[in-house]
Amino acid sequence: MLKVICVCGARPNFMKIAPLVDVMRRTSSIQAILVHTGQHYDERMSRSFFGELGIPEPDVNLEVGSCSHAVQTAEVMKRFEPVCLKERPDWVVVVGDVNSTLAAALTACKLGIQVAHVEAGLRSFDRTMPEEVNRVLTDAISDLLFVTEPSGVDNLRREGVASEKIHLVGNVMIDTLLRNRAQAEKSSILRDLELQDQHYAVVTLHRPSNVDETESFGGILKALETISRDMPVAFPIHPRSRKNLEALGLSRRVEQSGGLRLIEPLGYLDFLKLMAHSAVVLTDSGGVQEETTILGVPCLTLRNNTERPITLTQGTNRLAGTSTEGILAAYHAVRQQPMGAVHPPDLWDGHAADRIVASLVASSHMQQSAKEE
Ligand code: UD1
Ligand code: UDP
Repeated sequence: MLKVICVCGARPNFMKIAPLVDVMRRTSSIQAILVHTGQHYDERMSRSFFGELGIPEPDVNLEVGSCSHAVQTAEVMKRFEPVCLKERPDWVVVVGDVNSTLAAALTACKLGIQVAHVEAGLRSFDRTMPEEVNRVLTDAISDLLFVTEPSGVDNLRREGVASEKIHLVGNVMIDTLLRNRAQAEKSSILRDLELQDQHYAVVTLHRPSNVDETESFGGILKALETISRDMPVAFPIHPRSRKNLEALGLSRRVEQSGGLRLIEPLGYLDFLKLMAHSAVVLTDSGGVQEETTILGVPCLTLRNNTERPITLTQGTNRLAGTSTEGILAAYHAVRQQPMGAVHPPDLWDGHAADRIVASLVASSHMQQSAKEE
């Protein structure tokens, strides 16, 4: 029996871990243990996804909560180590690029437990992004690296990772999207928000570089206010951005702008429906760039780079930068030019988790046979 600890902690981890845990629980040779680090803890940032996506109750919650990068990373490590010592798993599986990802990988690696990284190899080449540091470090200590797009394979090879560790398997976040798309259509979110199909924009923002300072956040809000005079803008706001909006004294401006509608973070199904029927999505989220690629909805990424270049070449994504003028120019361009055909990236077919689990099992069999020889 193969013992695997799957780790999740922040919102985008839940969509990624859901199909993995599902396939593992249906694989008789695997015992899967689910650990939630507690990095995200609000009902709307964590618990709601467990119910909606059918993720089982975590076996352990480390309850680390919010703190500085160093403290959060250290707390996950301190609290995860006894779990690893008690369970002695064959593998620790981590997903994505949040602090919990790196902390759990490092804890396991130091205990001599093998680490599998799902969504390995993505690079923005911008070390000021906390996620980029997490990606580079997690990949450096992982034993199996599961990659979503060819750029990830190139990046890992360039960094000297052995080819046999790298597996291009597709995208577990897209497994979840495809699995839930029909169900999401039943959501009443458009009616609830009084929005008309194709006649509104959706915004999400949470990158520190966009929302932690008045100048950057204010500049983006100015663009959104202008867009909101053209069409309603639904903005389910991340708790980091909500807090900063108030701390930076920007809330009044938003309240005065009639078309810019701040709402609480949405559940997965409501948000999927909201994206799918929108005219355009403006975001700095990693996952949303990929989801809009599959939904065929124009996406303006409010950043100067992306670690997911396939969404630019094969999807509907374009980099709009973060200046007011840049965002508005990109918005007008998207409104004027109908989008070309979308080519879903190879292997973004709903079966990435099956490939990952099969690969984990095969790799463990190979290790077992090598030991017996
Ligand atoms: C984290 C990840 C980021 C990911 C994002 C997804 C890191 C370094 N960052 O950013 O890569 O894209 O999650 O959403 O791991 N807060 C709440 N309730 C919660 C969670 C957070 O109020 O349930 C507030 C707290 O004030 C906290 C702040 O949001 O200080 C930031 O939370 P944190 O997890 O540190 O980083 P995120 O910005 O959420
Ligand atoms: N999402 C959601 N509700 C929202 C906003 C986003 O369910 O109000 C989902 C979105 O569809 C995607 C994931 O959250 O599956 C992306 O997470 P986030 O943007 O927080 O993190 P990132 O992908 O940038 O790391």
